[in-house]
Amino acid sequence: MSYEKTLDDLRANPRCWLVTGVAGFIGSNLLETLLNANQRVVGLDNFSTGSQDNLDSVQEVVGEDAWDRFTFIEGDICQLEDCQRAVNGVDFVLHQAALGSVPRSIENPIGTNAANIDGFVNMLVASEKEGVKRFVYAASSSTYGDHPGLPKVEDRIGKPLSPYAVTKYVNELYADVFAKTYGMELIGLRYFNVFGPRQNPKGAYAAVIPKWFELMLTGQPCQINGDGETSRDFCYIRNTVQANILAATADQADAINQVYNVAYGARTTLNELHAHMRHLVDGYLQSGYKLDPDYQDFRQGDVRHSLADISKAAQLLGYAPTHGPKEGLDEAFQWYATHLANNS
Ligand SMILES: NC(=O)c1ccc[n+]([C@@H]2O[C@H](COP(=O)([O-])OP(=O)(O)OC[C@H]3O[C@@H](n4cnc5c(N)ncnc54)[C@H](O)[C@@H]3O)[C@@H](O)[C@H]2O)c1
Repeated sequence: MSYEKTLDDLRANPRCWLVTGVAGFIGSNLLETLLNANQRVVGLDNFSTGSQDNLDSVQEVVGEDAWDRFTFIEGDICQLEDCQRAVNGVDFVLHQAALGSVPRSIENPIGTNAANIDGFVNMLVASEKEGVKRFVYAASSSTYGDHPGLPKVEDRIGKPLSPYAVTKYVNELYADVFAKTYGMELIGLRYFNVFGPRQNPKGAYAAVIPKWFELMLTGQPCQINGDGETSRDFCYIRNTVQANILAATADQADAINQVYNVAYGARTTLNELHAHMRHLVDGYLQSGYKLDPDYQDFRQGDVRHSLADISKAAQLLGYAPTHGPKEGLDEAFQWYATHLANNS
């Protein structure tokens, strides 16, 4: 079924969803779309990297009637009781809660392991006991590790290059075992560099796009790790949300208990990214923005190139990304300009 038809169908037959990590970037965007589609949503978050601001901003966008269909639980996926409370009465789980970032996991492998593996298993156990219909979880392109092949195809992976990548691969292994052992329906979505509104620009572990927009909008130079020819398959948040909803509702038997790449399917170098972002900011700021990037050493644990083959998700889920990286940047720019310009 197409995404639009799926949303129409959901509007007519509302279900109950649990979004973990709901106060984060991807979680809050899932929340917004689900509430706008007349769904009931439970959200679980411990605010370790997410924020009340993200929830407030969803409330503002969707309005009070839709907001009444949302129940927030402040809790930790490392506590089984919190997971059990959150899954109560839920049809679909969209599990996003985790500690992201490769560098953070190199600095703090124990914390990353606890949230990303212990927390994941807690969520699986709670969901299995509750009998949820489907468990969709945020996997990661980092699972391709040192495999040199491009584009990345789901069944050809290498060795992980960071503690973070290990945790995300272990999620896939657990999902497979829970499907076989307990008969659960699980789908893993290997996200490739997601970007869009509400992604945090702050701190040492910020993703490149919000970080660079904040620097540019406050007149500062951006740092590029390496020569700038490192490339990524940048995926706009609307595509990621689409993949989650299609994965939760897919009814074809061979689509279930699978892992899918979720990306746009095109490669953008950091130099190209910087040039397009600079062009947007240059046109926006009265003073213009012409600064060249500041090139630094390559960063430990980073893969050189990343590009997804998205044909499996297209075939089995009907995934059809609507926004390329440029369209996504153009669409989200007003949000960046409003939220990041005076924020340094
Ligand atoms: N953003 C990307 O490009 C990307 C790429 C690949 C995978 N992912 C995965 O997608 C998911 C969402 O990422 P995001 O970019 O929205 O990150 P984010 O940091 O904005 O959101 C993660 C949310 O999880 C919450 N959280 C963390 N630990 C928790 C815990 N123990 N209990 C309860 N809540 C907890 C945080 O407070 C935060 O709100 C993560 O699993 C991440 O690993 C993201």
